[in-house]
Amino acid sequence: MTDQNGQTAIAHTNIAFIKYWGKADLTLNLPTTSSLSLTLNEYYTKTRVEEADEDSLLINDLPQDGKRIHQFLDVLRAEMGDFPPLRVISENKVPLSAGLASSASSFAALTAAVAKFNHWDLSLEELSRLSRRGSGSATRSFFAGFAIWEKGDKDENSYAHALKTPDLPIALVVCKVSGMVKKVSSSDGMRRAQTSPDYQAWVDESAKQLDEMKAALAAADIKKVGEIAEANALAMHNLNLTAEDRRFTYLNQETVKVLEQVKALRKQGFIAYATMDAGPNVKIITKKDQAPAIKEHLAKRFRKIQFDIATAGPGISYE
Ligand code: PMV
Repeated sequence: MTDQNGQTAIAHTNIAFIKYWGKADLTLNLPTTSSLSLTLNEYYTKTRVEEADEDSLLINDLPQDGKRIHQFLDVLRAEMGDFPPLRVISENKVPLSAGLASSASSFAALTAAVAKFNHWDLSLEELSRLSRRGSGSATRSFFAGFAIWEKGDKDENSYAHALKTPDLPIALVVCKVSGMVKKVSSSDGMRRAQTSPDYQAWVDESAKQLDEMKAALAAADIKKVGEIAEANALAMHNLNLTAEDRRFTYLNQETVKVLEQVKALRKQGFIAYATMDAGPNVKIITKKDQAPAIKEHLAKRFRKIQFDIATAGPGISYE
């Protein structure tokens, strides 16, 4: 039985503190490493699905080439049983220029809306597992606060779960660096990074960093959390720069200048550590009470960059 009236789900985006950057299985979208993220309060995708004549996609009122969505819906049909064609209507409150992974919140919201529409009775972990086939980072957007995507080694055991932590006064200063965003998709970027001679060392180090990160979160040690996250992110970006198959970088000169200021802020005694994803923008990990001063420090020096302060956000919800 399906719901004629459609269903709406809301998922918030997440930022990885221990990154997913490489695939062990392309078809199943299994990662080479487990990853850990913080779901954010400020950015989300709201997605409604309705029965239609064919699968289609509308984002912020604009029709899109829905090929990736159609393929993903077909994966869900193959996994869970057939359902009618769907019109997917998405409202994306993840600014495209922010360098925040909008695919994470998009595929999480879509998976949840389709499951609700079809009355599938699934746990958050089962929804997370299904969403992986659309986008790896989506697996972590079902959960409030911190989540870990356990890499697993087969379809059945590769999904995310919530990570209980003490109440942490953590915040991110999101720096929307201006300039051209390099057009290397995350899938292509990962494929190239995996040709770096440093790749296996990064995978090995990532497992250690995940354990250290869990300990730092349990101890509510935001400084340590930032140190580990920054080391993990810089090493990820180094893989792109050392790829054997066409080296590249997502970072630009502005990114480098912001990173210099992050160091300067630390010298002044601030807790400030940087993480970057598939784009030039910088997210600075800090404490809530230090975020406004950090934002002010940077705003004075970078007139063209926009800054946001983001905090921990909620898990999946429905309307
Ligand atoms: O899930 P994708 O294909 O959007 O890849 C996400 C990759 C990073 O954002 C760079 C890292 C991560 O773990 O979110």
